[in-house]
Amino acid sequence: MNASTVAVIVVAAGSGLRLGHPEPKAFVPLGDGTILSTAVDSILGMREIPHLVLVVPADRVDEARAVFGPVADRVGAPLDVVDGGTTRQDSVAKGIAVLPHLVDTVLVHDAARPLTPALLFDEVVAAVRSRGHGIVPALDVVDTVKRVGGGGRVLDTVDRSTLKAVQTPQGFPREALERAYVEAVGEHTDDASIAAAAGIPVDVVPGDARAFKVTVPSDLARAERLVEERAGGGETPLPRVGTGVDVHAYSDDPATPMRLAGLEWPGGHGLSGHSDGDAAAHAIVDAVLAAAGLGDIGGSFGTDDPALAGAHGVVFLERARDLVERAGFRIGNASVQIVGNRPKLAPRRAEAEAVLSAALGAPVSVAGTTSDALGLTGRGEGVAAIATAIVIPLPGR
Ligand code: CTP
Ligand code: MG
Repeated sequence: MNASTVAVIVVAAGSGLRLGHPEPKAFVPLGDGTILSTAVDSILGMREIPHLVLVVPADRVDEARAVFGPVADRVGAPLDVVDGGTTRQDSVAKGIAVLPHLVDTVLVHDAARPLTPALLFDEVVAAVRSRGHGIVPALDVVDTVKRVGGGGRVLDTVDRSTLKAVQTPQGFPREALERAYVEAVGEHTDDASIAAAAGIPVDVVPGDARAFKVTVPSDLARAERLVEERAGGGETPLPRVGTGVDVHAYSDDPATPMRLAGLEWPGGHGLSGHSDGDAAAHAIVDAVLAAAGLGDIGGSFGTDDPALAGAHGVVFLERARDLVERAGFRIGNASVQIVGNRPKLAPRRAEAEAVLSAALGAPVSVAGTTSDALGLTGRGEGVAAIATAIVIPLPGR
């Protein structure tokens, strides 16, 4: 357990009258957890692990300790759970009262903003530290705002260029927040207004649309949709890349058929090898296996497997595709470059791409080059192939 200098007080003691759910708002189900557990997950994703203070209804203190103790332990976050007051302001005050000595920066956050990203907490902490006063995340007001009098009569339009909609977490140097709460008179709806009343400067930093507050049932439906999106591959898994190289010598026997890039090339003088010597197909196989973390062609197929003696390159490609898919990946594409003096690829490149793509179940690009009369390929001793492939982890992998 580390000693944190940052604390996040999560106020979760409201009853959620406007949401109208039988559970107190923070304990209403959301995704696989609750509104509060979703907020806590985000907070525990902060760069600097904070001291976490949960302020919950009095009859939920034991339950919250049991649920969130192990969760906080897992990342080494110290945890306090206390019961709240009759107003938000009272609840925050009760959270402030249990802050340990070491804490110098305090963020106050509404549990009712469960989808606030961890990054916003990090940004508020950084801004409090660099500016030494209050920081609130805020969004521009996009609607035209009217002042309205009795009977619903529009009085005038408010200049929206100076208006901001503020969110939480709101951050403060610890002693500033403590002093502001001691001096607070009357009820305030947020901590920034309590700080401002105590003469503490408060700046805005850019807020985040995901930090919206769950207030009425349609907000909960929106949060539910966002959680679902996030779980269902909202975070796109990164593709994985692999490389493969293969070299085969021209056979001494002029009658050996030339098989390369999935095609048979007339005229014999083919490549030697346990299989058909199709260096291009084998390089692609190595690239896709490597991308999926499945080793190489020798390890996966057994180069001396009698069943593969003389096997066509496309058989290897079909098998590799099967292995990679069973390991939970989809092949994105592959590209192979063949280095050698013959056969001349250009006239049949499209044909080769079609055959290889069909075997791999993904687009394969084929290119050819020579090595300027240098090396084993330049001297006409054999053919080399270099391939790159991308595989994409399937959802849930
Ligand atoms: N809050 C609190 N203690 C209170 C009142 C509110 O900790 N006595 C918390 C809420 O749990 C919420 C946050 O303050 O996370 C913002 O308040 P709000 O959205 O108004 O929540 P509720 O007061 O629960 O909802 P309502 O006003 O609809 O009853
Ligand atoms: Mg309220």
